[in-house]
Amino acid sequence: MMSHTGESKTGAGEPAAAGDLPHAGESWAFAQSLVHSRRNVTPRRLVEPGPDAGQLQGLLALAAAAPDHGQLTPWRFVIVPQAQRHRLAEVFAQALSDRDPAATPEQLASAREKAHRAPLLMVAVACLGRREPDTPSLERMVSMGAAIQNLLLGAHAMGFGAGLTSGKAMASNRLRALLGLLDDEAAVCCVNIGTVTRNKPRDGLRPEAGAFVSTLGAP
Ligand SMILES: Cc1cc2nc3c(=O)[nH]c(=O)nc-3n(C[C@H](O)[C@H](O)[C@H](O)COP(=O)(O)O)c2cc1C
Repeated sequence: MMSHTGESKTGAGEPAAAGDLPHAGESWAFAQSLVHSRRNVTPRRLVEPGPDAGQLQGLLALAAAAPDHGQLTPWRFVIVPQAQRHRLAEVFAQALSDRDPAATPEQLASAREKAHRAPLLMVAVACLGRREPDTPSLERMVSMGAAIQNLLLGAHAMGFGAGLTSGKAMASNRLRALLGLLDDEAAVCCVNIGTVTRNKPRDGLRPEAGAFVSTLGAP
């Protein structure tokens, strides 16, 4: 297993061209192993320790390396520290009550509990408002997805587990108010990172390329 270190040969501010990678064959083997072995880890299976401050900075630097048409940084992350999790928990519970006034105490407790699971919880926020250049919102979401994937892969490479959670509360005005979102921002999902407490058999095969690739033929 890889260790919980945030060290890398090329940190933020030390860009390496692809051709500069020391051993291209090894890099490819490592990339395959890293990407194929990453799995979504539900926050229920995440315990302390999470990333420390230095590791978190390393992960955020990976997010910053995402492709970004127009250099807009059209996304941001709101870290919800342990001391503020009770506020997120109340938002989750109240958002459920808003949707379903008949929600039982058990359902409300379960909604609250979701805010307390992962050692590191960040809400990923898409910034979709008009800016120059006005890169289309779909392109901005591609950038955000890449930033999140960089975080997930980086956490995995450090030896942590990481998973995404979303749900209807993401769109609730209560969450918007808690996070101080602007009108043209949207909370998309939570990024949860921590130490995997118990392994789980691999589920869900990845699709074969034939399922998502076609070749444009001549007219
Ligand atoms: C934006 C987004 C939101 C997600 N929200 C949830 C969620 O609420 N609950 C969940 O179990 N998984 C969630 N996932 C994770 C997917 O279920 C997971 O990536 C998928 O099952 C494929 O598994 P893998 O990541 O292990 O390949 C989300 C993924 C994305 C991209």
